[in-house]
Amino acid sequence: MQVLVLLLVCLVVLTLLFLVAEQLYVIVRCMWLRAAPFVPVNARSIPHIVAEIALTQDDLVYDLGCGDGRILRALHTKEPRARYVGVEWDWLPYVLAKFRTRNIARQSLTLKRKNFYTENLTGATCLVLYLFPQVLNQLLPKFRAELAPGTRIFSVDFQFADLTPTRTVDLPPIVGSINKRLYEYRL
Ligand SMILES: C[S@@+](CC[C@H](N)C(=O)[O-])C[C@H]1O[C@@H](n2cnc3c(N)ncnc32)[C@H](O)[C@@H]1O
Repeated sequence: MQVLVLLLVCLVVLTLLFLVAEQLYVIVRCMWLRAAPFVPVNARSIPHIVAEIALTQDDLVYDLGCGDGRILRALHTKEPRARYVGVEWDWLPYVLAKFRTRNIARQSLTLKRKNFYTENLTGATCLVLYLFPQVLNQLLPKFRAELAPGTRIFSVDFQFADLTPTRTVDLPPIVGSINKRLYEYRL
């Protein structure tokens, strides 16, 4: 019995150590690659963001760095006939996203655990992004190469250096929220 308890304790400690080490690795990797870490959009800002993104059944929407999938889920609730793809490389938010979107059919919403730089975006009609400006700027040549002219890009809080927004929406001030603005671009 004592051996069993000891084994269980070891297992729990090892799991915790693994989780901490993995998250430290993600943070160091994000700092090294200057990538955006998992900081989700404030839940209370989401209805205001979603209200600004008009979608139809013909849309294919990508959230690059979809985190725990909260924006995709809210967009799907608003327009269930559109198709959605979330790309996320960090396993923890990816698992959370899988859980959050478990009731949505796979034909409507796909989650991919991968680096979004390696995702072919051909066919996407709308992107939703909450990423650091340097990441947006690094992605822009890829967007120009793979996306059709007229594709809409929505960016929360951060702007591209070489693209002028077609619309800027001030999000309602919410206590505790750092989400201040939504920028809409057209390629
Ligand atoms: C600021 S969070 C935004 C999360 C979510 N879009 C939201 O609005 O709540 C940025 C996310 O992008 C992910 N990410 C950063 N670089 C990535 C990359 N190259 N490929 C896939 N995911 C990436 C991070 O792991 C993180 O979850």
